[in-house]
Amino acid sequence: MRVAIIPGDGIGPEVISEAVRAIEAVSADLEMEEAEMGLGAFQRTGSYLPDKTLELLRDVPAALFGAITSPLTYDPAYRSPLLRIRKEFDLYANIRPVRRWHGDLGLVDLDVIIVRENTEGMYTGAERDVAGGVVTERLVTARACERLVDRAVRLSHEQGRRRVTCVHKSNVLRRSDGLFRKVFYERTEGSGIEANDMLVDAAAAALISKPRELDVLVTLNLYGDILSDEAAALAGGLGFAPSVNMGDELALFEPTHGSAPDIAGRGVANPTAAILSAAMMLRHLGKAKEASKLEAAVETTLSLGHRTRDAGGRLGTREFMASYLEVLGTL
Ligand code: NAI
Ligand code: MG
Repeated sequence: MRVAIIPGDGIGPEVISEAVRAIEAVSADLEMEEAEMGLGAFQRTGSYLPDKTLELLRDVPAALFGAITSPLTYDPAYRSPLLRIRKEFDLYANIRPVRRWHGDLGLVDLDVIIVRENTEGMYTGAERDVAGGVVTERLVTARACERLVDRAVRLSHEQGRRRVTCVHKSNVLRRSDGLFRKVFYERTEGSGIEANDMLVDAAAAALISKPRELDVLVTLNLYGDILSDEAAALAGGLGFAPSVNMGDELALFEPTHGSAPDIAGRGVANPTAAILSAAMMLRHLGKAKEASKLEAAVETTLSLGHRTRDAGGRLGTREFMASYLEVLGTL
């Protein structure tokens, strides 16, 4: 099976090379083909998203991506290659499992999956001036809601999750969020998954005050963006937050964090989010056993007290990986 590996900029290559080592330790039959994207790619090739990378992505079911650095100076011609990929491949669901991987990390005992709409909502980019201000168009379509909810239901079945909660603001946005809520109940009925709904402000509070009542959250673009950062911070920080941008043809797996220029090149980045993203990729490719091994090794390594600096420890990336791979070898 062939997959794309896109390290990107900053700490992207540092964490992705470690995730590749973890994959190689559990699965020998993946053909991992490297491709370029981001600021470094632009400096080397003149393109943020070289055609070769796009061609590879058309040929593979999955890609593991690190992070990219946005241009440092304002460039009116710049289009984020990540947004381009999301659009071109119609990666309509952004899925972020957020879990506290050890009791002394983070603040709250969370274990949720946030399924966020990734193509419309507040992120249409359509803004126009009107007298005295600016209007932003916010789009909610039945089709986007349907496939999003269907994806959340499928994921819940695959992962043995019990309940899906629709997170919205239909008390104010009666028609748009009302449509989302209506579609949600239509599509979850008879699915065998318990369905309920919550206002987004209540959900933001519930992540802190009653986290164990939340299981799978399905929500619109802006709400999901904010709630997933909140959840990641509550559960231990960006170093432990994996994600996938999911379409029907391609799934792009990536740690939630960016390229972290403040620590790039210093060998201190936490590779866990990249490893957990790799585990999600393996599960997506039908390698559930291998994926569970990568995750179990994260749990054990942390329980043995091995920590990178962002998690309150002293280990550099390589030292942490040495412990991680040793644990992985025993599973
Ligand atoms: P960031 O996520 O790169 O960093 C935020 C803070 O968290 C920094 O202090 C960083 O050192 C720390 N951090 C992040 N990942 C870490 C890890 N694995 N281990 C240890 N510490 C970690 O976000 P920031 O600083 O806002 O953005 C930096 C660059 O990344 C910008 O150019 C931004 O546009 C880009 N970015 C790219 C994303 C992507 O490629 N998907 C997502 C977010 C930001
Ligand atoms: Mg964000």
